[in-house]
Amino acid sequence: MQRSFVVDVERLRSEFRSLYNSDPQVFSAPGRVNLIGEHTDYNEGFVLPMAIERRTYVAGAPSGNSKVRVRSLTLGESFQFDLERPGPKKRGSWLDYVEGTARGLMDRGIPVVGTDLLINSNVPTGAGVSASAALELAVGIALGVLGGTAEPDRIKLALAGQAAEHQYVGTMCGIMDQYIAALGHQDSALLIDCRTLETKSVPIKLADVSILICDTRVKHELSSSEYNLRRAECLRGSNILAKSLPKVRTLRDVSVADFERLATQLPGVVRSRCRHVVTENARTLAAVDALSAGNLTAMGKLMSQSHISLRDDYQVSCEELDVAVDVAAAEAGVYGSRMTGGGFGGCTVTLLQNDAIDRVSHAVKGAFAARGWKEPEFFASTACEGARIE
Ligand code: GLA
Repeated sequence: MQRSFVVDVERLRSEFRSLYNSDPQVFSAPGRVNLIGEHTDYNEGFVLPMAIERRTYVAGAPSGNSKVRVRSLTLGESFQFDLERPGPKKRGSWLDYVEGTARGLMDRGIPVVGTDLLINSNVPTGAGVSASAALELAVGIALGVLGGTAEPDRIKLALAGQAAEHQYVGTMCGIMDQYIAALGHQDSALLIDCRTLETKSVPIKLADVSILICDTRVKHELSSSEYNLRRAECLRGSNILAKSLPKVRTLRDVSVADFERLATQLPGVVRSRCRHVVTENARTLAAVDALSAGNLTAMGKLMSQSHISLRDDYQVSCEELDVAVDVAAAEAGVYGSRMTGGGFGGCTVTLLQNDAIDRVSHAVKGAFAARGWKEPEFFASTACEGARIE
């Protein structure tokens, strides 16, 4: 995976001092990988992501005026905006994430003051590990604390990040990415109920076993238009099902048995989309039981079923993801593998024995080379902590 350097926090502090002439505090937030529960968050269902070892770091100090000045070392770019004069939305630059998060905090009653910020990150962008939520949460915790709230409410931080996506960036994402970046715990995945926003930690400290992320290094253009189309198809499905089942507000309220009974009421494509969401919710809850019982064989099987459902019913996979998953799954020592995140490129996640890591990386790289594709990148990660003060 790209950007595999370690961010040197002391160096970030000293670069901040030379740039802005004051002493900063440093904050950070992680990228994420979703173990299971894909395209369920905007249907108020269940997801099971974990925060990964890649983080975005933000050094910051109040500036004494109403301006937020921000520089990214990763991109070598600087911007500023004035808290007293809201800037345009959807500029198409990373400033949308920063200003959108600042506005999201203020809208939720978390004061924000003029601040200087310096950002560095080793979360790869465009790779499907949610570099955007890492940026929103790192900026969010920085602006919250520096604005005078010693411990900003984590849920408000996550919602402010999601509001930045919806209002400033123009991506109608669910809550999963911001939530895990805000609330992740060391050595645990997080079951999120995307209706109630309640969470449950699911320990995932695995002695001889790893979570291996494979970045296919492709991102197909379709991803955001198809994402919005899937949301609309799900809504259409739940509206149709609600006519027979008044309890249905979203697909979250449809059990597998309800779906099987009523599936013929749904037009073909909508039926497939709904089948994915309904069965994925059931798989996610089953995955929590499997992980809690230490049953990795069952967990792996659920991951593989999730991939098939995303590929065939939800149709958000692509050739590169399918090859990465199929080649990994065929190796000894692999429990399960699936695409992770929105799809149409990005990453796969594989649950495997430690001694299978090299075998799997080698086999997938070989399969990509044979097809003339870019070399994929691999990265094993433990489950990490969410946004924090360094
Ligand atoms: C993207 C979105 C998330 C979620 C996933 C699919 O990562 O940001 O909210 O919908 O896709 O599970």
